[in-house]
Amino acid sequence: MVLSTGTKKIKTAVFISGTGSNLKSLIKFSKLKKSPISIDLIISNNPRSKGLKFSKIFKIKKKIFDFEKKKLAESKIIFELKKKKINLICLAGFMKVLSKNFINNFDGKILNIHPSLLPKFKGLNTHKRAIMSKDRYSGCTVHFVNSKIDSGRIIIQKKVKILKDDTAKTLAKKVLTQEHILYPKAILKIFSL
Ligand code: GAR
Repeated sequence: MVLSTGTKKIKTAVFISGTGSNLKSLIKFSKLKKSPISIDLIISNNPRSKGLKFSKIFKIKKKIFDFEKKKLAESKIIFELKKKKINLICLAGFMKVLSKNFINNFDGKILNIHPSLLPKFKGLNTHKRAIMSKDRYSGCTVHFVNSKIDSGRIIIQKKVKILKDDTAKTLAKKVLTQEHILYPKAILKIFSL
């Protein structure tokens, strides 16, 4: 793996689009001594992302980019990430699909968290689809990002039992709680290889 910890923490950018609860859990994790990463930048495509508040709370620089002009947005982001010497990108509820060109610029250095047991239920509405399929378990996955949606190498997964009376909402809540534990675990796992 290209990434190496050395003595300094790995400069990390977290990409969000919404609430940012995974961002918050990653920031808290990054402050632990055992964490190999520091969070140096928050990026969003959505100026109304609730998660942007964590920029102020934790004094982390934030940048917002308009993905209506995706090519331009991505080249501005690449410039920003290189300028700040960012060496790891964590997608955390980032709801835009990054281009092949963007991914090639950070090959093997982009992680994503997805709310299903991949390869099941790639894409959107994962909880509803898991319930409709009458699956007994759903869960979450942290994986490397490649140019195919939700298809890169899996790092770690956590199962969550689907109960008879679960709705997409109750299942989402249970899975999200596990996501907050799983993302830091995945980061510890890849850097202890
Ligand atoms: C999380 O459940 C994450 O797995 C999911 O969005 C939610 C974001 O929550 N991501 C995707 O669906 C990506 N395709 P958060 O903003 O509170 O971290």
